[in-house]
Amino acid sequence: MAVVELKNVVKQYGKIRALDGVSLEIEQGSCVGLIGVNGAGKSTLIKIITGLALRDSGDANVLGFDPGRRRPEMLSRIGLISETPSLYPFLTGTEHLKLIQNVKPGISDAEIDGILEKVGLSDRKNDKVSGYSFGMRQRLGMAQALLGNPDLLLLDEPTNGLDPVGVRDLRTIVTDFKAKSASTVLISSHNLHEVGLLCDSYIFIDKGKIVAVTKREELGDDLESEFFKRIEAGTSPDTGNAIDTGNATGGV
Ligand SMILES: Nc1ncnc2c1ncn2[C@@H]1O[C@H](COP(=O)(O)OP(=O)(O)O)[C@@H](O)[C@H]1O
Ligand SMILES: [Mg+2]
Repeated sequence: MAVVELKNVVKQYGKIRALDGVSLEIEQGSCVGLIGVNGAGKSTLIKIITGLALRDSGDANVLGFDPGRRRPEMLSRIGLISETPSLYPFLTGTEHLKLIQNVKPGISDAEIDGILEKVGLSDRKNDKVSGYSFGMRQRLGMAQALLGNPDLLLLDEPTNGLDPVGVRDLRTIVTDFKAKSASTVLISSHNLHEVGLLCDSYIFIDKGKIVAVTKREELGDDLESEFFKRIEAGTSPDTGNAIDTGNATGGV
């Protein structure tokens, strides 16, 4: 069953076509890496899926809903680390999660404590976020995303700015989450090594178009060279413009 289904989605920001006819399907229970360079359209795609941005044309179905309608029933089943996490400096870590408890039904205080433990913030949970390091803020963002055991977990460049310990911990947290639930995970990254370790399939995006959709076993060990091959295969050396690759559509 597809949890996310996009058909020919276009998103334009002024003259910039951030998404140029994106079609894709993400199957329930899969862990998908969304791979592309800066400006490829990763964040825009994630915003369209969550309803944070509205598409100009095309169809979208997320967990049975049109994300453009921003239904609370849909949003309460999604966990998100956005490219710009919004945290309140004057609130503590625990208080941030209590805000989510107010809008997502059925989250217990014990669950909040459990999540804070899992992301390694237990001993600082009652401190104000203004005193948190960058890595601690990222960990709190992860806790926000995971709270309530979302059916769809969307992580937009979650390893950005993390130190190696933070990256390893994030990997453990996501692996653990996948092992314990039937949820679907989408992780955007330009860090191929990270995505390669976590995901079982990959969507390659470049200049707002999906240029390839592939399963892990179809790729060689060298994900990085595979990446450049695929990105460059979609680009004409003469014009620098994207060649029509038939607009690769895929179910992953
Ligand atoms: N709010 C916005 N206003 C104008 N242009 C935007 C906006 N958001 C994204 N863009 C443009 O859309 C393109 C895709 O951006 P984005 O989805 O953020 O890429 P990525 O996340 O892959 O780095 C870029 O050219 C970017 O400058
Ligand atoms: Mg981005």
